[in-house]
Amino acid sequence: MVKITVNGKVYEFDSASDKSLMEQLVDQGANIMAACGGAGICTTCAIHVKQGKFSPKSQAEEDMCLPEGQRLTCQCRPLEDSDAELVYS
Ligand code: FES
Repeated sequence: MVKITVNGKVYEFDSASDKSLMEQLVDQGANIMAACGGAGICTTCAIHVKQGKFSPKSQAEEDMCLPEGQRLTCQCRPLEDSDAELVYS
């Protein structure tokens, strides 16, 4: 279990689960826009990572050319306790 703080609120990420970070955050009450439903093509679920190590970028994230430090919660997985801010909230 990894702790991830998003906009100052602490959530838990179960790395053994098949659910995405976005799905797990939403399950715990986070309000995250997901215009494409997690397909990695809209960027509305993006976070700016302030601290922590995440999984390598998915092909969808590479194709998006996200600004430095941004990740898509529907595509990435935190590998250690992390801190982030939603880009659109
Ligand atoms: S929900 Fe659309 S890119 Fe993540």
